[in-house]
Amino acid sequence: MNFAGIELSGSIVNASGTFDAIAARRAFGDALLASFPFAAFVSKTVTLEPRQGNPPPRLWELGAGMLNSIGLPNKGLNRFLAEDLPQLAELPVPLIVNVMGSAPQDVARLVAAFGAREEVAALELNVSCPNVTTGLLMGADPGETAALLDVVRSQTAKPLIVKLTPNCASPGEVAAAAEQHGADAVSLINTVRGMAMHPRRPREPWLGGGTGGMSGPAVRAIALAQVREVRRRVRLPILGMGGVQSGRHARELLDAGADLVAVGTESFRDPLAGSRIAAELLEIDANSGMIGVTA
Ligand code: SIN
Repeated sequence: MNFAGIELSGSIVNASGTFDAIAARRAFGDALLASFPFAAFVSKTVTLEPRQGNPPPRLWELGAGMLNSIGLPNKGLNRFLAEDLPQLAELPVPLIVNVMGSAPQDVARLVAAFGAREEVAALELNVSCPNVTTGLLMGADPGETAALLDVVRSQTAKPLIVKLTPNCASPGEVAAAAEQHGADAVSLINTVRGMAMHPRRPREPWLGGGTGGMSGPAVRAIALAQVREVRRRVRLPILGMGGVQSGRHARELLDAGADLVAVGTESFRDPLAGSRIAAELLEIDANSGMIGVTA
């Protein structure tokens, strides 16, 4: 299949930050390359400068998912280019690099740097992380998203995928702004802002960052509604995600309007969840006479 100009061998990719391909290669060796669980690999967010991320605790388990307040820790552009990109280029699937900056000019520098690398198939713009203020602001408002694209679009001919936040009044309006200002695709949903109270200290939040982003089965209904809303507003390809645990859940997101599906939190329970879900989806489609539509 083709998604926004990227040739893919299947319909399931990873959600940014939920599968560490470099650590997985260390753990599983070349067996990982022989049966890579995704049709493309989306990197964890890269910023211009290194980031420490948020203070601990960073995770809280929910009845139907989890809260994270990771805060985008990463080694920064230069070390990512020198240390991580050569390893990620060995993966047997297209590489999508996720980037974030605190100002459009920062994002433009990241897009230009990765746009110049043949190892990179596409860029995902993270304007939706709930754990850093700047990223959320750029993606919560159609005007900010349009202004960002006006600065970064000219920096590369590679596909630009804008990752939308569910924490805004209208993801459909933000998607429409992205479409009008040159995006090639949108991805949604990022996590839903939430909070957990400290179990032993009254009035204190548990997470070091105060609030966090909710993911997992709890957000699946939100993802379905928002993918459908965005589908009705734009013609852009949609990478849909949110609580996908099975082929049936992937099929539902596709039926709601997505063209490609990402698996996120489920990969923390089972690193091979992507392969299982892709196989289940193929079987569902084969049994309903849709084989070939998603392969
Ligand atoms: C994080 O690192 O805080 C999570 C990434 C995101 O929500 O975009």
